[in-house]
Amino acid sequence: MKAIIPVAGYGTRLKPHTERYQKTLLPLAGKPALDFILEPLFDSGIDELVFIVGHLKEQVIDHVKKYDCKFSFIEQKNRLGLGHAVLTGLKITDEPVLVQLGDTIFNLDYNEFCSSTDNVIGVDEVDDPSRFGIVELKDDKVINFFEKHPNPPSNLAISGLYYFNNEGKLKSAIEELIKRNIKTNNEYQITDALQLMVKQGENFSVFPTPNYYDVGVPEALLYSNRKLLISNHKEFPTSKIIEPVFIGDNCIIDNSIIGPYVTIMNNCDIYNSKIEDSIILHDSNITDMQILGKIAAKDGSEAC
Ligand code: UTP
Repeated sequence: MKAIIPVAGYGTRLKPHTERYQKTLLPLAGKPALDFILEPLFDSGIDELVFIVGHLKEQVIDHVKKYDCKFSFIEQKNRLGLGHAVLTGLKITDEPVLVQLGDTIFNLDYNEFCSSTDNVIGVDEVDDPSRFGIVELKDDKVINFFEKHPNPPSNLAISGLYYFNNEGKLKSAIEELIKRNIKTNNEYQITDALQLMVKQGENFSVFPTPNYYDVGVPEALLYSNRKLLISNHKEFPTSKIIEPVFIGDNCIIDNSIIGPYVTIMNNCDIYNSKIEDSIILHDSNITDMQILGKIAAKDGSEAC
């Protein structure tokens, strides 16, 4: 089955790092988010992946060369929203298609997710539903979709994984959305296209995805780092390492306290510093700093 992964966005909420790295390639727990996304997809037998690319597209194209899979890359020339991005990758066909956001990691069996005859939406309960796409259910079927509604009728948020049993029908719905110029927050949203589909009589079920990890904003990326981190148990004689900590290759750690919940990527030099609950990007040189709850790069002054 084909899967579409949109990764064209600017990732503004993870600036300044997303000025240098496409958001999907920012690391957590020792490797880029995209690797965490792709590995379970391949394990479930997905054999055709379409990336919707734009901002820093060469990085994505280059990164996935290490995988043996049929990839294609389609450019979204203007960032008009997720609905528009997905449309860029759709064809007129009755085949099913999976759509997964490029900033969300799922630990689940994709075969099970895609086993329904309905369309399927991954959902999770949230405390602040007005920030999300929300589904309203009746007898286990979706009867309405809401995108960033001030007062939605449920707290079941769309987590970023979608199975469509007919690619062509999704394509027609997003085309209609654009023709009618239906926008939320000035973007063509996939949720608004789903609302058109449900009103046309398409069936949607939900699939709970409690084990999903968002990497789209700093707090979520740090939370996902904490949850996915596996120590690689490196020792540095002049420093104290409080596990779990992942330390990449070719790093110097001197007179420092590192951890818990720290990822340090390759080629970093750290002197006289205390780092906790943080991600340090490749090639950083950090001296005499305290870094707590940050994603940091270079001399530590680039952080969010
Ligand atoms: P987001 O809206 O969360 O990502 O879209 P973004 O636009 O990169 O981030 P911010 O809002 O500026 O911080 C979720 C996914 O959809 C892709 C993004 O790359 C991300 O993987 N996307 C979004 C597109 O490919 N194109 C778009 O027009 C919008």
